[in-house]
Amino acid sequence: MPTIISSPPPRPLLWILHGPNLNMLGSREPEVYGRLTLADIDSALGRLAESRGARCESFQSNHEGVLIDRIHAAPDHQVQFFIINPGAFTHTSVALRDALLSVALPFIEVHLSNIYAREPFRHHSMLSDKALGGIYGFGSQGYEFALLRALDYLQNR
Ligand code: DQA
Repeated sequence: MPTIISSPPPRPLLWILHGPNLNMLGSREPEVYGRLTLADIDSALGRLAESRGARCESFQSNHEGVLIDRIHAAPDHQVQFFIINPGAFTHTSVALRDALLSVALPFIEVHLSNIYAREPFRHHSMLSDKALGGIYGFGSQGYEFALLRALDYLQNR
């Protein structure tokens, strides 16, 4: 009888994408966005992903085109899912929406603050009708909810 050696399935890879001004977390309007830095949030997500047998990689840019290039690169890196907080691009960027649609990967939209309880111009998202779902108003915990939900989705699809 030949011995069949099967290698374990590769761990799912998720990309966490952060838009403009999120590099300022910790000092930026802490009463709205909390006191954790982006590095704090990203390292907690990395640990959570590891504990669930997955991998996540985080990326932040203040530039729309750089975020779009990153999204386009995802299929070449075998990325399976995005968790994205597009920051202010949420409310303006048709280009970011088109980029997400162009790679056809599932994504969850996260906002630290409750955008619907803020200025009217924050009430509309260019992405949310194409997202698997959205989480807003739970601060940095929202990213963790999103990650758990994304892993559940990847396991059960
Ligand atoms: C944000 C909400 C946006 O309206 C704002 O422009 C941000 C952060 C949030 O996480 O609450 O930069 O996406």
